[in-house]
Amino acid sequence: MDKLLIHGGHSLKGEVPISGAKNAALPILCAAILVPGTLELDNVPNLQDVGTTLRLLERMGVKSDRDGSKVALDASQITHLEAAYDLVKTMRASILVLGPLLARFGEARVSLPGGCAIGQRPVDQHIKGLQALGARIEIEHGYVVARAKRLRGARIVTDMVTVTGTENLMMAATLADGETIIENAAREPEVVDLAAALTALGARIRGAGTDRIVIEGVQALHSGAYRVMPDRIETGTFLCAVAAAGGSLRLTGCDTAALDATLDKLRETGLVIESGTDWLQATMSGRPRSVDIRTAPYPGFATDMQAQIMAVNCVAQGTAVITETIFENRFMHVQEMVRLGADISIQGNTAVVRGAPGLSGAIVMATDLRASAGLVIAGLVAEGDTLVDRIYHLDRGYDRMERKLAAAGAQIERVRTVVDA
Ligand code: UD1
Repeated sequence: MDKLLIHGGHSLKGEVPISGAKNAALPILCAAILVPGTLELDNVPNLQDVGTTLRLLERMGVKSDRDGSKVALDASQITHLEAAYDLVKTMRASILVLGPLLARFGEARVSLPGGCAIGQRPVDQHIKGLQALGARIEIEHGYVVARAKRLRGARIVTDMVTVTGTENLMMAATLADGETIIENAAREPEVVDLAAALTALGARIRGAGTDRIVIEGVQALHSGAYRVMPDRIETGTFLCAVAAAGGSLRLTGCDTAALDATLDKLRETGLVIESGTDWLQATMSGRPRSVDIRTAPYPGFATDMQAQIMAVNCVAQGTAVITETIFENRFMHVQEMVRLGADISIQGNTAVVRGAPGLSGAIVMATDLRASAGLVIAGLVAEGDTLVDRIYHLDRGYDRMERKLAAAGAQIERVRTVVDA
């Protein structure tokens, strides 16, 4: 199992290219299922979850050809309408194949994802929405089995804002008979990116980016091409890295428009940010100031940035209150940060972080994707060596993070552990 060894205490300097957005790429790859032809994608990030999605699609009969950040998919010959447990358990976003399979083929069998480290994360809203579109759904042997000759447009009001729920229903509705309205829809930029990709394939969608999305079903989608948006969470992660470790980073190929809440909070820490249409220059001199955070659906502060901003707060001047409102168990990184010398106490969904002048390196264990990123940032600041274990979590969602950091002056290396047979 790979680990990251970080020798902390070095400020960052240089340029970091931002990759395509994981959370846009995954639904867009799944959207290929809707097309009886080809989908050519660009700016697809090179990370584990993309590999898992391609394997999932290949098992169904979708042909894929990957060349760097370009991925060409051909879903004209789908033979298996199933997503099996062994892949779904490693990536919850696999549920995104449910809507497209059902819409195009009238049938789908997708394993229930089960629990995960950051909370229960049920998929009841996906199911409720598909039922509203006329699907018959049963749970059989741990699988969601959905059937419908042809989905019918309907008005769906989700109980809470759900990102992949909105995406699944939006994809399903593209091929439904008539008009579908999704109320209380997620407004995340990745939902907008998926809507743009579907539109490039012939779907009729308006209102993406608002809480009311209207989809006019069409008979079939057609072949097309699309470029995935830049990753706003990766961008925010590198901004937190420079806010905590100090120095100056230029991030290129990013989308500054999608980052409002993160940029506002990071400016409060004292990070000086200049920006153009597709670049950011961030400079930090001295110690950051602490900032209070309350996670919320977009355009609020992203839960996917919570662990990283916590790492900044660990070394900031002052005390920060961080409230997590999206997932009930997303403070697993706290105990690991405490092992690095951070002063954090938790009460329910609130963490109080008293900034310390420094941290000290230790062995820590990553528990989930964004927690890993928070631990890497803490490790960049900590004095001495920090070994971050279980970085397969990090590899799921970041495109060569340690190489990008090393190129910007961090002392960080991947340590490969050989397991004896
Ligand atoms: C997506 C993102 C993830 C991010 C999260 C919140 C992808 C691939 N993943 O995850 O990185 O952290 O949005 O911004 O885009 N819920 C239910 N029932 C449902 C669906 C959701 O109760 O059917 C609850 C969840 O448990 C959670 C909240 O709704 O408490 C929001 O979850 P959701 O937006 O669905 O997260 P994901 O789409 O899984």
